Amino acid sequence: MAAFDSEQYDIDILDNGRTVRDFIDKKIEQLSLEVSVTTLEPFHVADLDDVYKKHLTWSENLPRVKPFYAVKCNNTPAIIRTLSALGTGFDCASKAEIELALSLGATPDRIIFAHTTKPESHIKFARTRGVQMMTFDNQDELSKIAHCHPSAKLVLRIAVDDSSSLRRLNSKFGACPAAAGKLLRRAGELGLDVVGVSFHVGCMCNDTRAYSRAIADAHQTRTFPTSGAKVLRGSTINVALDEFFPPECGVQIIAEPGRYFVESAFTLAVNVIGKRAMMEEAAEQNSNVSTLYVVMMYYVNDGVFGSLSFLINDPASGCVLPYLQKVKHKLHTSPVCLVCLLPELQVGEWLLFDNTGAYTVCLATDFNGFEKAHIFSVVTPETWQVLQDHTSDSAGSVNWTVKDSHCGHSAPGVNGGC
Ligand SMILES: Cc1ncc(COP(=O)(O)O)c(C=O)c1O
Repeated sequence: MAAFDSEQYDIDILDNGRTVRDFIDKKIEQLSLEVSVTTLEPFHVADLDDVYKKHLTWSENLPRVKPFYAVKCNNTPAIIRTLSALGTGFDCASKAEIELALSLGATPDRIIFAHTTKPESHIKFARTRGVQMMTFDNQDELSKIAHCHPSAKLVLRIAVDDSSSLRRLNSKFGACPAAAGKLLRRAGELGLDVVGVSFHVGCMCNDTRAYSRAIADAHQTRTFPTSGAKVLRGSTINVALDEFFPPECGVQIIAEPGRYFVESAFTLAVNVIGKRAMMEEAAEQNSNVSTLYVVMMYYVNDGVFGSLSFLINDPASGCVLPYLQKVKHKLHTSPVCLVCLLPELQVGEWLLFDNTGAYTVCLATDFNGFEKAHIFSVVTPETWQVLQDHTSDSAGSVNWTVKDSHCGHSAPGVNGGC
């Protein structure tokens, strides 16, 4: 794998015991000192140590499950490069994501093209780049794949119960059980090689029983290995995997986590660029008397058309709360996002938001001509050394071994189920 160069990826190595917070404070100090009018732009800091810790936790808790990071969640090159060095695979949804993952060290066998509805040109692109594994859930997709990439290794996505998730996906994606048999027969008629089955329990699913049920459904579909998107706590899942897909059956398990790897790694810093005081009337509790309150509205240089678009598009996932850069503790906030009890702020002050790594930078626009937030990545020297060591390993892979098929299927990353 090519060298992992800190300058190329805008990575600051936190020497002399500096912390992420020290880096943010310094960056704000530098920006505030600069004379140029463009310097008080918003920025993200990506903590690569946080991503590395997630990798370790994953390997410890789900030793049988190889993660294929969902690039859609955050396509920052430093993140992809870090995960690539750590040996994860990648779930790509398009030609551009495949191109990005390949350019950042992934090999074709470590990519699953996991969109069930792909443009033909993207399928052809996958073929030319040697990406074999891809999902489907409908007949049209099978026809497109037969035409554009007949040697692809297919994974049937089934619809499962996603009722315990905050963002449900199964009304849009996944074949219902009744359709699955028909699709498999059609794939056979077209001479296509179906090597696996996948499911998505929905985003932000906190009920591990949903995974157990989905794993049982995957087993019910017979014949194939499982690729389950996102896994939270290992034990229940491991039990279900061992029950339905015991190690000796030779099935290889992969998963497609996005948010898990990146959400907590990012902190967003925004600058207060304006404020407005408004009078609001509110009734006193248990009385007819109403009181006038002053409500301060602050304008900051990033927001719902930028890094925080999920507050509008996906409010269920929005748990980010701002706090003042100068205070070390979080301020008391109301449950409604972005309506917070803050001390009065001055124009030019900075607010920080933690946990802004998932579905933020990839959805930002430059609406109104506001620049997208720049991303600075940081890493401790110890973790940087680990990443360098993994990079110099020619396979680029440490904890994960992709076994060959046991049942005659040649799909890299998936063992044919028996
Ligand atoms: C096919 C697929 N895989 C993986 C993911 C990642 O999900 P999450 O970021 O919730 O882990 C998604 C999200 O929409 C998806 O559609």
